[in-house]
Amino acid sequence: MDQNLLRKIRENVDIVEFIGKYIPLQKKGKNYFGLCPFHNDNNPSLSVSREKQIYKCFVCGEAGNVFNFLMKFENISFKEAVQTIANEVGIIVPTEFKKEENKNKIYYDIYDIANKFFQNNLLAKEGAKAREYLMNRKLDMETIKEFQIGLALNERAALTKMLVKKGYDLKLLNDLGLVSDDHDIYIKRIIFPLTNPKGEINGFSGRIYNGEHTNKYLNSKETFIFKKGENLFNYNRAREEVRKNKFVILMEGFMAVIRAYTIGVKNCVATMGTALTVEQITLLKRLATTVYLCLDGDDAGINATLNNGKLLLEHNLEVKVIPLKEGLDPDDYILKYGSESFYSLISSAISYNDFKIRLLKKGVNFKSSTELSNYVNLVLKEISNVSDEIKREIMLKNLANETNVWYNTLEKKLNELLANQKDEDFKVFVTSKNVSKRKNKYEKTMQELIYYMLIKKEVITIVENSKVYFPIDSYRILAREISYFYEQYGYINIADFKTYIEDNKDLNDVFLEIISLDLDSNVSDITILEYLKVIKDYNVSLEIKRLEKLIMNEIDPLEQAKISNQIMKLKMGSENND
Ligand code: CTP
Ligand code: MN
Repeated sequence: MDQNLLRKIRENVDIVEFIGKYIPLQKKGKNYFGLCPFHNDNNPSLSVSREKQIYKCFVCGEAGNVFNFLMKFENISFKEAVQTIANEVGIIVPTEFKKEENKNKIYYDIYDIANKFFQNNLLAKEGAKAREYLMNRKLDMETIKEFQIGLALNERAALTKMLVKKGYDLKLLNDLGLVSDDHDIYIKRIIFPLTNPKGEINGFSGRIYNGEHTNKYLNSKETFIFKKGENLFNYNRAREEVRKNKFVILMEGFMAVIRAYTIGVKNCVATMGTALTVEQITLLKRLATTVYLCLDGDDAGINATLNNGKLLLEHNLEVKVIPLKEGLDPDDYILKYGSESFYSLISSAISYNDFKIRLLKKGVNFKSSTELSNYVNLVLKEISNVSDEIKREIMLKNLANETNVWYNTLEKKLNELLANQKDEDFKVFVTSKNVSKRKNKYEKTMQELIYYMLIKKEVITIVENSKVYFPIDSYRILAREISYFYEQYGYINIADFKTYIEDNKDLNDVFLEIISLDLDSNVSDITILEYLKVIKDYNVSLEIKRLEKLIMNEIDPLEQAKISNQIMKLKMGSENND
């Protein structure tokens, strides 16, 4: 790989701006901090350095340059990450570099072909009934095109025959969930293509449209490219829109998402009627820090709102709720009350806690002191989960007003609850804090010296001239690689060196540990010479240890004397140190 080209691409993006597009960053001192998207982060633990053009999470240890961030975030290969960033900054990379074929490409190709086939059916003469159904549901041609809606006709094996004729293996088609034995899975259904987070079609959902008495929706089975719990409907399409809006709206069904899209609300995604998974939450986190829940207004939807909201909060997302009246789902609501009404619902979305409190209040008899105090206690518990002090105070005031319980009493109770919580938080903090292995003085010195080799080319020269020997393999190899990089390219920096050793897992680990040291970038030659001396002394002490062992095993007194003489010399040579 052409290191100079990689450097050129990397230098065209600023890591703070780049990561800032994915997660909100805040400046603290000379670095920027945000919630780490690579673990379930509670406090902003991801630090991004503009100076060094690297990021590092000091909790989960994930670190690297812009390429690494994109790789990890989008779950793509190094080459794909380089390619993506190169495109963004308008640098053309040689074609042989692009030739990293997606290993699943053939499967997506098959889905693409099937999808085109279904889309054609919908436009054909035989598709009239289905088109009529879609028109009745107020889905116009533009929407049908955008969502690539198609149709499986009333034929036993139309798709199967077509794909087999194209040379695809029947067994593969079975495994992909398109074919069962020798016939089509989707027959007489309107076809909605499903996509992975990259936007590649990896499954279908087929809906009945002619009053058949069978499952309303038939979804692709789980295959190696389709996992229901790892997809969100419309994820890829919603991406840009979510970034603009700064929040994502989560719905239950894809018809709801499509409907919202038709009225210009394009930042919606949907689970497919299943419970929210951690994988889906990770996907959501990549889009925004706030999730609006707009689930169906029936009991099932309300329960799902409670469960999903709780889960999202646990994953440190901000949660708002758009409650829908009369048990309607977003699709029904928009059709019944119109787009304006839906827009205003979005802008008046309530916090998760308020939503819960509203539910708690339902049916409570305020005249019954037991019911009332019960209600007050439940609400206080909710308020204690709110991290913002001002919000808590507002909620407390509301509670005092509505229940006529003295504010000070409520406050006292709340403080008790908060105090208990603090203890728990602390416990979690203590147990989860990563305790890194303690390094001895010599190891620390080697790490610091290597750190300075990475940020100051002069140090490389000093180290080379000193002929110092790093007695620990990984440090020695790393130092040698740094020298080699400098020799080859005439410069050194952390971000590019990271790319250079990308494939070397062992070196990478040591490297990441070293760059997280975050030492003062000003270092004098004298300090460097001191480092070198410490390492030399370490070598001496190791040699003494080795000789002492040798003596123990030596029986010849003459040899013993020789060795002890050597030891003496070594000790004298370094007696002023240590
Ligand atoms: N679902 C499913 N199988 C079913 C019913 C529902 O897979 N038999 C999934 C679908 O992904 C659907 C979601 O659950 O989008 C929500 O279900 P529902 O509210 O019943 O469907 P709607 O989205 O309202 O679809 P429609 O308006 O066409 O009835
Ligand atoms: Mn519906």
